[in-house]
Formats: sequence, structure tokens, C-alpha cells
Amino acid sequence: MASRGGFTSKLGFVAAAAGSAVGLGNIWRFPFEVGRNGGAAFLLVYLICIVLIGLPVMTGEITIGRSTGSNPYRAYRKLGGANWSWLGVWGIICGIMFLSVYNVVAGWAFGYFVGVSFGDLLSTPDLGGYFSTSIAEIGDNFLYSLAFMIITAFIVSRGVSGGIEKAAKILMPILLTLLVGIIIYSLTLDGAMEGVKYYLVPDFGAITIPTIYNALGLAFFSLSMGMGALITYGSYINKTDNITESATLVTITDTVVAFLAGLMVMPLVFSMGQSPNAGPGLLFVTLPSVFQAMGPITGKIIGSMFFLLICFAALTSTISLLEIPSGLLVDEKKWSRKKVVWLTALAIFVVGIPGMLSHGAVDGLTNFMFYEGRAKSYFDVVFDIFSDTGLPLGGLLMSIFIARKWGMDKFDSEIESGNPTYKDSAWRTFLHITMKYVSPISLGIIFVITILQKFLGISLFG
Ligand code: PHE
Repeated sequence: MASRGGFTSKLGFVAAAAGSAVGLGNIWRFPFEVGRNGGAAFLLVYLICIVLIGLPVMTGEITIGRSTGSNPYRAYRKLGGANWSWLGVWGIICGIMFLSVYNVVAGWAFGYFVGVSFGDLLSTPDLGGYFSTSIAEIGDNFLYSLAFMIITAFIVSRGVSGGIEKAAKILMPILLTLLVGIIIYSLTLDGAMEGVKYYLVPDFGAITIPTIYNALGLAFFSLSMGMGALITYGSYINKTDNITESATLVTITDTVVAFLAGLMVMPLVFSMGQSPNAGPGLLFVTLPSVFQAMGPITGKIIGSMFFLLICFAALTSTISLLEIPSGLLVDEKKWSRKKVVWLTALAIFVVGIPGMLSHGAVDGLTNFMFYEGRAKSYFDVVFDIFSDTGLPLGGLLMSIFIARKWGMDKFDSEIESGNPTYKDSAWRTFLHITMKYVSPISLGIIFVITILQKFLGISLFG
């Protein structure tokens, strides 16, 4: 039988889970969402989602994983019977679809790293044009995403402790160092404080319904929740590990990194007189123009560091995404890890090809559907369905599952193993209130509003 493997220590788990959490969600998406959703007000809503929903859902997933020592499908099946196993399957489907398009963005970042460091990307006069052309042409996209998937598969194929944990322990410290280095530089630029102010002083008028569902969707995206990644990683930890402590550490690391990414990006953008409102192109158009303005040498150094940072962050996330279906197949089919990982990676890469073709290469994929008042590409639709809607739905059903089916007493006793003082702690009260009420009710309401407003164009609040 193929062995499941496991993390060697609590630190190993925290590094890997934080590596999963810290990714494009923090460094690509978080700054542009802050930029287009009104700055500090969005940050505030985001933090509320993290504390009231993120922390309990993350703890819930890790607990389910450790309690069963199984992949998401088997875990729900063991605890809830065959009727609940579809919830694990839904998570796995979300994970596969999510990785297929996430890897496309990772490929862009990799291409930009190569272009800035070894090519003449920074001497391009029209960076906006460069971005739209480069994502529309299939050749480079194909090559860079394939390269990214191969690196991911290589690491995952080496196993939980020898591949995943080791990579996280090397990459995470480098990532944090690069991040802090660039922040120090960006805060010293003239006009940096304008950016800091926009980022930190809230305008409460900017909070709208889309602010709320975007913030919630981003919280799930960024904390790697709702698709079973944390059930999978949780299944590899020890019974003596303290789950609440680990979940808190991962949540704090992820939130701090997102916060720091904003603190890195906003001063850069404002000091060069750019608008923070560029959407997904913020990282690929606005920032390279900032690097360009720094002059050829400084621009190249800071720009290369910046894109390397993004590649490392994305890599520790793609690793965890590939581990979800791979871990499942190793468990269920008893195939060797190497075979499973390479086949799964290849299949997901192929599933992602329409995502690569949906930025201008193929019109039917570029203008795939129409909702939210605009044409959406296949790539947008996959993120909307499997990430921003699918992940909170997974979290909603998981909290209902824990509170109503598995039972809070069993949930408590799993956490107690490794955390003997849990029984009489404020943690227990917090988890009970959030798991039984706050999480299901707020996630349920936001789910309905998202479907009505985003997909059906029905606005309940004018
Ligand atoms: N959390 C990762 C990010 O912020 C994305 C991710 C989601 C990874 C779900 C694994 C599982 O980029």
C-alpha cells in the first residue's frame, strides 16, 4: 500500500499551511481588490470576515482532516455517511477547477519574472498593450504555465515531508524577506504616504453589497478554505498538535502578508501618480510602470525581486492545490505517489487550457457569458463559480455539517487532543457561537445575495 506520509512537526504543518494560504490571493488579488473597492473600508470588512468566519472555518477543516486522517471525500464519508461524501467531492472539484485557472496567473507571473530579469520588458513603452498582448498569445502562456505546473508536480511528487514541507520551509522565509525589503524601499519614496493614507483611513460610504461578497470571497480564496486543502493538510498532522494554535498562526500569517502586500503596493502606486483602481492588471501593468520609472538598474532589481516573490507565493499554493486530488488518489487507488501526481498535474493543466485562451485568443472563451453588467471570460466564470461562490458554499455546508451532523461534542473532543485547556476556554465559546450561528447564518445570507445580485442581476438593496 502506498504510504500517506505526514508532516514531521507542528512547525512543518504551519509552514506548509501558511504557504498554501499565502499566494496570489494575497499579493495579486488583495491589493487590487482594496484598490477597486474603496481602500481602507474594504480592509475593515475583510478583517471582520477573517475573524468571524475565517478562523472557525479553518479550525473546522483542520479538525475534520485530523480526526479522520483522510482525504476530504473519505473524511466526510467517515464522519457523516455516504450522503455527506459529496461535500468532499464538491471541494475537490472546486480545487481542480481553481488550480486550472490559478496556474494560468502563476504562468503570467513567471513570464513577467523572466521578462523583467532576463529580457527587456521594462523598456517596453506600452505596458498595458504588452500585458494584453502577452496574455492573449497562446505560445508563452502555454510554456510558462506548463513550466509552473511541472515545478509544482516535481515538489508534490516528493511527498508530504520531503517535498511539500521542505519547499515551504525554504520558500516562506525568502518570501517574507523579499516582502519586507520591498516595503522598506517603497515607504521611502516621495508621496508614499498618500498611498498609506488611502490604504488605512476608511471611507465608510464605500461599503456596498459587492464590497461584502468580494471581501468574503477573497477571505476564502486567501485562507485556502472551502475546498478541502486544509482537510488534506490536517490529515497529515499529529494527534498531539494544538489545532487552534496552528489555525491561528496560519490565519495571522496570511492576514499579515496580505496587509503587508497592500503596504508594499499602495505607496509604489501612489508615489508614481498611478491609480490603484486598475483591477487584475494592477500587478502586471501599473507596477511594471512604477519599476520603469525607477530607472533601468533599480527598476530591474526591485522588479525582479517583486516577480520572484509572487512566483514563490504562488508555488506554495499550487503545491497544496495539487495535493488535494493527488492525496485522494494515493489513498483511494493505492497508486504510487509519483504516478498519481504527474498524471493529475497533466490532467489539470489540460483542463486549464481554455483559461489560457480566454484573454483574447478565442472569442467564444473571451466573451463566454454575460452577467454583473459585463461580458465575462471563461476564466472569470471559473473563478466566480468555483472560487467566490463555491468556496463560501463549501464553508457554509461544512459549518452546518459540524454543528448539526457530526456534533459539537465530537468536534470539541478532537480539538482537546493537543489542547488540554480547550474545554473551559474562551476558544470553545467562540467556536461554538461562530460554528453554530455566525458562520452558517452569515454565509447563508451572503450566498443567496451573491446568486441574486451577481448572477441574476437582482439587487435587493437598490
Ligand atoms: N490561498 C491561496 C492564495 O491566496 C490560494 C489557494 C486557495 C490555495 C485554496 C489552496 C487552496 O493564493
